[in-house]
Amino acid sequence: MPSRSPLAGGCRAVLAGGLALGLAVSAAPATAASIQRGLTLARTHCATCHAIDRVSPSPLTAAPAFRDLHRSYAVENLSEALAEGIMTGHPSMPQFRFDPDQIEDFIAFLKSLERRR
Ligand code: HEC
Repeated sequence: MPSRSPLAGGCRAVLAGGLALGLAVSAAPATAASIQRGLTLARTHCATCHAIDRVSPSPLTAAPAFRDLHRSYAVENLSEALAEGIMTGHPSMPQFRFDPDQIEDFIAFLKSLERRR
């Protein structure tokens, strides 16, 4: 029946609308501020090596783009490492240590990179 295709198209449009709404809701002021602070942390401490946006390649090729980290593990799992200082054994990766507040912001920022995929 030819009438099935337009119906399916309509359903997809509704679904896309729902997803867009979900994004708008999840960008509530507190979260947005947290993400912003996380972005600032990343820009200050990490961006010389890691890509911190959705499209750019990492300035240092060996450093994984932050938007890809969630493919290897849940980014929440990084909070402990961020508190203790990440040590990857790679000489060009500096040691650093974040405060609990900073970690929360940074994870919120990393999670924001996972959306819209
Ligand atoms: C001087 C360059 C440099 C800076 C600055 C830097 N990194 Fe890295 N980072 C690297 C490199 C290179 C690797 C890949 C290490 C490897 O594969 O052994 C890496 C790997 C990582 C990984 C992946 C570890 C894993 O085992 O999957 C994480 C997470 C990470 N960096 C977080 C950060 C964070 C957070 C910051 C900022 C606070 C930061 N890095 C700053 C160079 C850097």
